[in-house]
Amino acid sequence: MANVSTVYALALVLLNYILQVHGTGCPVVECWFVQEKPGRGGGFPAAMSQEKSLMYVRTDPDSTEAESQQKPQLTSTPQESTMLLTQPAVVKWAAPLTSSAQSPIYLQADWFSASLQGLDGQLTLSSVMRAPKGTNEPNVILSVFSTSTSIRSRLGVPVVLDCGFWMDASSPLSGMGFAVEWRYQFRGEGRLVVAYDGKGDRLAETTEEGAELDIPALHQTGNASLLLEEAQVRHTGTYICTVYLPYLLAQVAIDLEIEEPPSLSISPSPLPISYPGQTLSVQCEASGFAPLSLELSWEFVGADGGVQSLGEGGMSGHRQASDGTFSQSSRLTLDLGKLDLGRGGEVTCVAVHPGGTRRASTTLNIIGVSGPSIEDSMAMVAVALGLYGVIKLFSWMFGTSGPSDSDSKDKKDK
Ligand SMILES: *[C@@H]1O[C@H](CO)[C@@H](O)[C@H](O)[C@H]1NC(C)=O
Repeated sequence: MANVSTVYALALVLLNYILQVHGTGCPVVECWFVQEKPGRGGGFPAAMSQEKSLMYVRTDPDSTEAESQQKPQLTSTPQESTMLLTQPAVVKWAAPLTSSAQSPIYLQADWFSASLQGLDGQLTLSSVMRAPKGTNEPNVILSVFSTSTSIRSRLGVPVVLDCGFWMDASSPLSGMGFAVEWRYQFRGEGRLVVAYDGKGDRLAETTEEGAELDIPALHQTGNASLLLEEAQVRHTGTYICTVYLPYLLAQVAIDLEIEEPPSLSISPSPLPISYPGQTLSVQCEASGFAPLSLELSWEFVGADGGVQSLGEGGMSGHRQASDGTFSQSSRLTLDLGKLDLGRGGEVTCVAVHPGGTRRASTTLNIIGVSGPSIEDSMAMVAVALGLYGVIKLFSWMFGTSGPSDSDSKDKKDK
């Protein structure tokens, strides 16, 4: 009655993997084994049993000896759970793996799946384990792992999404070929990025450009890393690396965030020479940033070095460019009648963004404030020179009209 491709064991292994490496020792692993009794159907949880478990950590993947073991503590919070079904994969690139349509007798065992997550995000691992019937001692058959579960990248640079797999060479499944698939997921939407049938050495057709696998490395070392040629805003999202063996699969997910801080420009720059009582308007434009998470504010640094906050200014709405980056601006109104900015200083626009903080400044000169500065003196000299010129002009005009009047008088007198 029990078909080989039906559920063998409806079992969950819940693990909490805490990476606390004490010197060269092994990490402490807290482990729960949760078993769900099969037979209810409908996907609702049936009766569950929960027991503490031992987990063996092999430090050398090729050795068969468990080199260290840790006593589990029953105080952990389960992080991940997976239900394992041994059945043929439906995707095209993995279908050749089970094309014989005869399931090996080897599958008649209890199959478990475990997901482990390093608390610092430096490791994620998903394993499929097999325990011969009635033994309760599972061995890892397939492991898929990544050393970076959360990656940040600037725009325009190459990105490596790390994924690797290991399979038990003594398992009959390991000789039957494998397939690798990378899917992209973002806000409920997904697409296939690359898929490779390792048995037939064929890449599936996808619409994705600039995404590659290193096929020789895949076969030689199980390095299934995805290489993105040039990071773009549209690459932000979750990437799922899935490795298929016949009737089995394991996968890990990696988050990629594209973070590009803004470029700032202030206008007008330089600011016009101002006088007390005047109202000035300054604009700061932040462009080319992603994601859309920006705080713009203004600061003033006086001639004496004192810093004053000028507030946020009036924020504009955001615009999105065709490359997916955003721009947004802030307009600051400086009422020199109300603010005491002395003789001026630096007006700075400060942009706080997850990709970094950026600043842009422009110089503000205020003239006519008590106690002349060098700039004031120069301005006054300029004004004085101008006045002198005007007086000179007038005196020349009167000077020439004077003699002409006297000339005419002279003519009348004659
Ligand atoms: C896997 O390949 C990528 C790209 O070639 C490389 O950056 C990475 O270091 C490799 N990982 C391992 C574990 O060799």
